[in-house]
Amino acid sequence: MEKIILTGDRPTGKLHLGHYVGSLRRRVELQESGAFDKIFVMIADAQALTDNADNPEKVRQNIIEVALDYLSCGLDPAKTTIFIQSQIPELCELAFYYMNLVTVQRLQRNPTVKAEIQMRGFSDNADDETQQRRGTPVGFFTYPISQASDITAFRATTVPVGEDQEPMIEQTREIVHKFNSVYGPTLVEPEIMLPDNAACLRLPGTDGKAKMSKSLGNCIYLSDSADDVKKKVMSMFTDPDHLRVEDPGKVEGNTVFTYLDAFCRPEHMEKYAPDYATLDDMKAHYRRGGLGDVKVKRLLIAVLNETLEPIRERRRYYEQRIEEVYEMLRKGSELARESASATLADVRRAMRIDYFGDAELIAEQAARYRAGE
Ligand code: TRP
Repeated sequence: MEKIILTGDRPTGKLHLGHYVGSLRRRVELQESGAFDKIFVMIADAQALTDNADNPEKVRQNIIEVALDYLSCGLDPAKTTIFIQSQIPELCELAFYYMNLVTVQRLQRNPTVKAEIQMRGFSDNADDETQQRRGTPVGFFTYPISQASDITAFRATTVPVGEDQEPMIEQTREIVHKFNSVYGPTLVEPEIMLPDNAACLRLPGTDGKAKMSKSLGNCIYLSDSADDVKKKVMSMFTDPDHLRVEDPGKVEGNTVFTYLDAFCRPEHMEKYAPDYATLDDMKAHYRRGGLGDVKVKRLLIAVLNETLEPIRERRRYYEQRIEEVYEMLRKGSELARESASATLADVRRAMRIDYFGDAELIAEQAARYRAGE
């Protein structure tokens, strides 16, 4: 069986370091590994619209931001098909059929959707509808089903995503099982691929909060300048009890060290902190006391800027070629559509709703009526 990757991002803002360590870096490695027959990366604008119906302009403007971030990180359109979700109408049709295979109750149990409904303040009290609070848009509530269409349309075997997406992959697998058992083997069951390092699984924000998120204003963006990065790192949270340099410090839960875990490689230590053989040696010094926060932050700034510089450079290149970027997205969408439409044809055949192509159905009914049954 072909090994196929599908993954994507909602275009609701520029991508940040959380996206980078959680998925983008891995995607580029997978692309370069040659271990996959096909790789699809989708800009999920239709999914973004499920809770931005009143703000399509935001989604529209962020498509190019996400595309630029992809290209700057090293996704290569010659090896990876980059496309826009809404340009593949087959995805809607698949979702419409899958809706019959999922219960409202099952969707209500999806922990990510639950948390997101809460976070967005959607109300489940019908009376609130007429007051201020909005209820949950049906499209938003059902986006896990649409995501199952995204994944299965491309026959993805592997879905590299963050852990918050685990319930979506689980739900997709259930839909695949159900579909295949009702209509016969048709769809491919995907597997999730999670980041392999705990710091990458969920990179905290610069304020130490659980997650980097635009609404919390605690992000370092891939497109931030070296100066922005310096300022943001300098204001980062460390260990609140590490008041004087001599005091012993805590490494666990210390955001600066968490970022180092996610970004620092042995060659960085050699180059920027040659007093220590490894990051662990530096952590040991910090724990003992005698190592100031500023020194650790300087290392992090150097590491981040070294990581981001080639990304910024490619971004500058593509920013001068916006028309070409759109052309790349158009071609990618065209190619993606071919795959999705082949899967949709299989689905229709399996569900036996391919009436006009079904000579047997027509002949059998014609014969029955002619015989006057
Ligand atoms: N839900 C994903 C996110 O918010 C984006 C997404 C949409 C996706 N469709 C997908 C990810 C299919 C993986 C596979 O980041």
